[in-house]
Amino acid sequence: MAAALISAALLERLAGAQHVLALTGAGISAESGVPTFRDAQTGPWAKYRAEDLATPEAFTANPRLVWDWYEWRRQLVAQAEPNPGHHALVTLQRRLPRFTLVTQNVDGLHARAGSRAVVELHGSIAQNLCFAEGTPVDEPAPGDSVPPLCPDCGAFLRPGVVWFGESLPPQALQRAEEAAQTCDIVLSIGTSSLVHPAAGLPLLAKRHGAYVVEVNPTSTPLTPHADLVLAGPAGLVLPELVRLLW
Ligand code: OAD
Repeated sequence: MAAALISAALLERLAGAQHVLALTGAGISAESGVPTFRDAQTGPWAKYRAEDLATPEAFTANPRLVWDWYEWRRQLVAQAEPNPGHHALVTLQRRLPRFTLVTQNVDGLHARAGSRAVVELHGSIAQNLCFAEGTPVDEPAPGDSVPPLCPDCGAFLRPGVVWFGESLPPQALQRAEEAAQTCDIVLSIGTSSLVHPAAGLPLLAKRHGAYVVEVNPTSTPLTPHADLVLAGPAGLVLPELVRLLW
């Protein structure tokens, strides 16, 4: 199926590309068993929407609830393994002259697969920050507090992810925008293209002349703007792309 979608024109473009940008979202990790954001949650979390937990307001109102939800997601991520979609992007990075990988995922699966210099636009679930000062904290203060406490100021620790209503890490955003302005091809993979500024990157690339390819089994607001849509799961489409290229 995947092979039928991949055109000779795309292969030719990729083979001749000087700089390819891949933007990934939760869909690429779905096949590793990490649920996407807009899927219904399971187990004790089924009654909550991710959008209602991933905010500074939710943390202020109920720090324990939000912390426990991230602990649950951390466990899911710890049990997950990178899938063939992640591995295919490692091969693209090794073989193409320049390849920038920008992800909205906080699960670290790209790095675990072997991708280098991953631009993490929405932070990392593995990192904790002081909720008061925003500084990274590796070791919490001793004690049983949930959430744990900052060893310097005693404030709660929070996961090092970008919540709704918060700004993206400026350096990561700058690297992503620079890549969008200089790439020849952008691959938008497994993202609903709903959350800005990440969702604007493929369109920024298009305005600068890039060819836009979307890899997603379902259509998104980006679909009408894509030059090519590979409407299948990333874990099938991306390895097939690599196989046909080399
Ligand atoms: P979403 O959960 O919004 O969207 C996941 C997308 O992946 C959907 O469009 C699915 O159709 C697609 N998908 C599912 N399975 C797939 C597969 N096997 N292969 C390819 N695509 C597949 O996740 P994101 O777009 O990543 O932000 O969400 C963007 C941001 O919104 C997240 O980073 C998070 C969220 O709220 C913050 O927390 C700030």
